[in-house]
Amino acid sequence: MKKIAIDGPSGAGKSTLSKALAKKLGYVYVDTGAMYRVIGLYILRRGVDPHDEKAVENELPDIKMEIKYVDGTQNMFLNGENVSGLIRTNEVSKYASVTSALPPVRAFLLNAQRDMAKTNNVIMDGRDIGTVIFPDADVKFFVTVSPDARAERRYAELLARGEQTTLDEVKRTMAERDKNDSTRAIAPAIPAEDAVMLDNSGELEQTIAYAMKIIEEKIK
Ligand code: DC
Repeated sequence: MKKIAIDGPSGAGKSTLSKALAKKLGYVYVDTGAMYRVIGLYILRRGVDPHDEKAVENELPDIKMEIKYVDGTQNMFLNGENVSGLIRTNEVSKYASVTSALPPVRAFLLNAQRDMAKTNNVIMDGRDIGTVIFPDADVKFFVTVSPDARAERRYAELLARGEQTTLDEVKRTMAERDKNDSTRAIAPAIPAEDAVMLDNSGELEQTIAYAMKIIEEKIK
């Protein structure tokens, strides 16, 4: 089975890019951020302090997470409930960012992520796919984008979902999350040594074409 890792910070356009590549290649697209978001949502609902590692760890056995593909789209289920829409709020983003830094949370999701590549060719987007989950991935990309382009994309996404926010608020929370995600001790969002850097600030079609060229070179 083939594995393509797509890592990078939030709002870099990883999911749009990964979905487009998965479609072209006929691979299964796996959004690992959604898995961390399901945990964030559960912890938020339970009223547990997301910084309290022990308390969060104690909640994990009660989480049954399932991924189902509906018309090719990844849907996330939390204890039987489809939470695909609910995990996209700013509040859940904050909880996911904090809880994803906890080692028990990462351990909880590690095997689930690896298992998905046992039976499918996958294109997996996340933060540590090329460094931790699949150090042996066939192709590794690290996606970057200018800070302003990132904030504007995220802002447009949140508005489209009907969230009340401002561009400044989005910039501020993104900077906070970035700091969390890239400076944490465990699985920080940094490029693997053998990752190909992809600047996604320009036209998506160009990024896709460049990525496809690299993939074709690496996967014959
Ligand atoms: O990609 P995203 O914004 O949906 O990710 C949500 C949070 O989960 C984000 O704070 C980073 C974290 N995350 C992670 O730590 N490791 C991953 N492989 C994917 C996401």
